Amino acid sequence: MKPSETDNDNAIAAQVKQLIAQMTLEEKVGQMVQIDFSVIGDTNPAHQACPIDRAKLDNAINHYHVGSILNTPHTPDNKAQSVATWCKITEEVRRAAAQSRLKIPVIYGIDAIHGATYSQGATLFPQAISMAATFNPKLSEQEGEITAREIRVSGLPWNFSPVMDIGRQPLWPRLWETYGEDVHLASTLGAAFIKGHQGDDFSAPDKAATCLKHFVGYSFPINGKDRTPAWISERMLREYFLPSFEAGIKAGSPTIMINSSEVDGIPGHANHHYLTTILRDEMGFKGFTVSDWEDIIRLYTRDKMAASPREAVKIAVMAGVDMSMVPLDFSFYDLLLDLAKAGEVPMTRIDEAVSRILTVKVQTGLFKPDHQPLPAENNFATPAAQAINLQAAHEAIILAKNDHAVLPLQKSAKVLVTGPTANLLSALNGGWTITWQGDNESLYPKDKLTVLAALQQKSPGNITYVPGSGFDSEIDIANAVSAAKNQDVILLCLGEKPYTETMGNIDNLDLPAAQTKLAQALLATGKPVVLLMLGGRPRIITPIAEQAAGVVLGFLPGMEGGRAIADVLLGDYNPNGKLPITYPRHPNGITLYDYKPIESLDSNSYKPLYPFGHGLSYTSFATSGLAVAKPKIKMGESVDVTVNVKNTGKLAGQETVLLYLQDLAASVTRPNKQLKAFKKVPLAAGESQQLRFTLTPHDLSFIGVDLKRVVEAGEFEVKVGDEAVKFAVVE
Ligand code: BGC
Repeated sequence: MKPSETDNDNAIAAQVKQLIAQMTLEEKVGQMVQIDFSVIGDTNPAHQACPIDRAKLDNAINHYHVGSILNTPHTPDNKAQSVATWCKITEEVRRAAAQSRLKIPVIYGIDAIHGATYSQGATLFPQAISMAATFNPKLSEQEGEITAREIRVSGLPWNFSPVMDIGRQPLWPRLWETYGEDVHLASTLGAAFIKGHQGDDFSAPDKAATCLKHFVGYSFPINGKDRTPAWISERMLREYFLPSFEAGIKAGSPTIMINSSEVDGIPGHANHHYLTTILRDEMGFKGFTVSDWEDIIRLYTRDKMAASPREAVKIAVMAGVDMSMVPLDFSFYDLLLDLAKAGEVPMTRIDEAVSRILTVKVQTGLFKPDHQPLPAENNFATPAAQAINLQAAHEAIILAKNDHAVLPLQKSAKVLVTGPTANLLSALNGGWTITWQGDNESLYPKDKLTVLAALQQKSPGNITYVPGSGFDSEIDIANAVSAAKNQDVILLCLGEKPYTETMGNIDNLDLPAAQTKLAQALLATGKPVVLLMLGGRPRIITPIAEQAAGVVLGFLPGMEGGRAIADVLLGDYNPNGKLPITYPRHPNGITLYDYKPIESLDSNSYKPLYPFGHGLSYTSFATSGLAVAKPKIKMGESVDVTVNVKNTGKLAGQETVLLYLQDLAASVTRPNKQLKAFKKVPLAAGESQQLRFTLTPHDLSFIGVDLKRVVEAGEFEVKVGDEAVKFAVVE
């Protein structure tokens, strides 16, 4: 008989309790320490096949008893390693831990952000913003499944992903790491990713633990710069920023990384209210929390909250941080040991943190004697994984404008391809690709296709390429203009170079001058221009988009993005991606789709260039017959909604039907609409289908006057396409 979940939990609790009883204070404190690979690394180029310094590893494990290691080797330049090297590294770490006094395994964590970032040749998916554009939870689940398998091939059991922050600040240089501005979409796709990554049991050889990040409020810096303050009221926090983490916890993610910055004047790592009262007491999270990079010491060095590094450790641990990503030395170990000996951090708190860490280690299967890397064969960058990646890239591409059906291009069309994103794989992938910043083009795989290469392959002899401009500087704009003369159409590829974190800070969403100049010069030729945008944020393209015949928004579609874009441009794939964010018209026009009624009094309110959910197809769709099953429901009941969707065009395609809800009168002002459900369906030309949705009491709820979730009696309006229908909730 299969042991029940409770039997299993009890067995794990007993195993952990027994271990705790045998551990010294030093061994316990060590479990709470996470070090960077560089602390045990060997920089001698002759040792690159397994760049571990055994003496340093021995010191880390047997003297400092470290619980965790993170990151890719720093030799020579923090880049992806071969699977063979990874297997040697993780095996060496496993062996060293197995020889320690209590044989407690080390949990190795890695940023596998859109696939196994740091494993050479891995399947690298569209980034989260582009996965969100697919509106396809199944693809997110498959991405999770493939990513888990590809890190486990390297012996890596723990992934610092998914980002569950909500992307409501378009300047923020990590917007693209989120699933966009909507709570329901992000919760759905994040939960699906976790399901695929962990299955029912993440100790299975092809599954791995996930880490929700960055708890909480990190994504909403008021000035748009990374790691700067957010001011989020408790109501807003509960309405917009906590639900995706709740969904991630419900999906079973066992670890959470903490917000590197601060909210309402309290640094994430010092916020007892968030880390303990909300996360543990209210949300019932049972796993462990890990700090972000160096963020405990920063309570002293940066935030001037602690008067000393020692006080910083005390504040963080007492607030609820269980593991410290120190990560470049052992200072946290020395300081916490001292605090514990002085009784300033009670043993109960240390036992609590260590029990959580050990529990996750057991759940991850690390104590199993046969815990080995998964064989690479049939598990790493398989043709099946590549095919799913291509499907994800296809579904991520958003056709935003298509005047006079300029797209798809005729197969015989003569096309001038120009602009800084045309011929770079890095522009398709963004940060966390092979390296942290993802910007080392020379390290990218030689067998993947840029947009230009994919077009050349599909339409040999018809493609002319002139660089035109770089990201920030002009190259040969005059050549691009003269080359345009002999072409039927211009594909103008603009956007952003790769970045993440503070390196991606900008002051303004406008496109750099060189790119604008290239665009203006080409638009002036009178040839039809199709604008392709790649990059992590919605850079302002309004004047260009208004004059261009076509606009394609690619964001960061990953390693298969070049092929996917070429397929869309040449009509071999019918686009169906939809915007997971509002695309602003002006740099400061950042009203989001779920604006409040008060924001629509001014005629300039929600007039983005393209609204949330926008995305065209080469066919057309119409929804009709929106109906609710009952005009009145009792408090606590659910209500069914039906709507028909029809492919009214001449081509097969996929359409995502978005269902929004508005509470028509409430004691706290409510958004004009909020996404509550969506369904993506394939439809042949002329085909129609009835879709059924269920709105639950949770869908009708909001954060009330007393900061508690509440459903209020009264009228609600369901909106799908051009239709709206009301129902009432009665006491
Ligand atoms: C980032 C995290 C990441 C961590 C470990 C930090 O700088 O904020 O998202 O997981 O580094 O690499």
